Amino acid sequence: MSASPADQGPAMRRAHITGWGRYAPAQVLTNADLERMVDTSDEWIRTRTGIRERRVAAANETTASMAAVAGLRAIAVAGLQPDDIDLILVGTLTPDYWMPSTAALVKEAIGNTRAAAMDVAAACSGFVYAYASAQAHVMSGLARHALVIGAETLTRFLDYTDRNTCILFGDGAGAVVLSASDEPGGGLGIELTTEPSGAYMIWLPGGGSKAPSSPGTIARGEHHIRMEGKETYRFATRTLASTALAAVARAGLQPSDIDLFIPHQANIRIIEAVAKSLDLPMERMFVNVDKYGNTSAASIPIALAEAVDGGRVKAGDRIVIVAFGAGFTSGAVAIEWTADPARSLGVDDRVRAQDVTIRPPLDWASVDPIPPALAALTTVPVDGHEIVLDDVVPGEPARAGQQEVPA
Ligand code: ACO
Repeated sequence: MSASPADQGPAMRRAHITGWGRYAPAQVLTNADLERMVDTSDEWIRTRTGIRERRVAAANETTASMAAVAGLRAIAVAGLQPDDIDLILVGTLTPDYWMPSTAALVKEAIGNTRAAAMDVAAACSGFVYAYASAQAHVMSGLARHALVIGAETLTRFLDYTDRNTCILFGDGAGAVVLSASDEPGGGLGIELTTEPSGAYMIWLPGGGSKAPSSPGTIARGEHHIRMEGKETYRFATRTLASTALAAVARAGLQPSDIDLFIPHQANIRIIEAVAKSLDLPMERMFVNVDKYGNTSAASIPIALAEAVDGGRVKAGDRIVIVAFGAGFTSGAVAIEWTADPARSLGVDDRVRAQDVTIRPPLDWASVDPIPPALAALTTVPVDGHEIVLDDVVPGEPARAGQQEVPA
């Protein structure tokens, strides 16, 4: 970040959302598609989770590319240029690489030259943790405009023989711009928690320093997400409500003062349980889990942008974003919305996914272990737009092998 205290003007005590954006890949993976891959049924998935379909990143899309599209849309809604951004935070558990950060790739893709950029690892709570961190940067004067993104490509980390997990997750990205302001509003109260007793309830065992990737870790399927569903469900219902309540109390408010809760979209039954324990009708809960499944850190910013674009949020409304996830982590922010929702009109048409590219590596070609049924779906052209396979070549080892760079 290149801003110095002298650049930053008078005290900036508030962080307002000035831009918002989302990107969902075009390919839809329905419950019926999953019925053909694993022993499940549309009826089971709908009644136990509320999910009808989820999106799958195309073969040429990654977490960084989706994050960049959502981020550029948020910047356009804020009426800013990419280089106005001082800080880029990406909440994700599915980065493009272990290093560099996905945020670094996003910075280059959006054409920003100035921002500090880093990823935030708090699983499904990643966007809320990133939001809280960005708010702290803005309120302390370290950043004037922060781009906060949640983005995930979860479909590449699932075991499509494990019906307990593969039906739950989907891909996508959402983003907000937080801008400094002396006006009232913006983030009012924050609560962040971590309970390491849940560390192995949702985890991805292989590929880290404890168990570096090897033929053995691959053979044991340790590159896939594992989950104790029931324990996670219990944690989620208990903690989402208590975390939301703490953030609301820090804002000096009651749950009944909140116009709309935007909870992490994991399971409709979890959201219903939270509404019940807060003694609120479901109309106060935003729900889109039916369309996207659980997109982890992307879930809240996608839901927030969709709620605003759908007329569910207006200036002066008080909203709460609240998440839970692996760790176990949880986080909530009570926010007074100040932006004109009409600012996002037409932005999705102006900022198109096909115009955004992540610079591919020069000397390496990957082959993703994507099952053939999914690979077929991810390479189907959408909207007449041909999918260009670059370094991501699911199921095509021969093609990847041809991508050697001449000596
Ligand atoms: N299709 C059909 N049957 C299934 C499926 C499936 N996809 N999955 C499980 N079943 C079966 C089970 O095998 C079990 O059968 P059995 O009784 O013969 O043993 C039966 O259905 C009931 O299984 P439960 O696990 O008891 O089902 P439950 O009602 O608890 O729902 C679920 C499971 C949906 C996973 C639920 O526990 C849940 O939502 N947990 C929270 C998960 C979550 O939110 N994870 C994300 C965390 S966020 C992050 O950081 C990544």
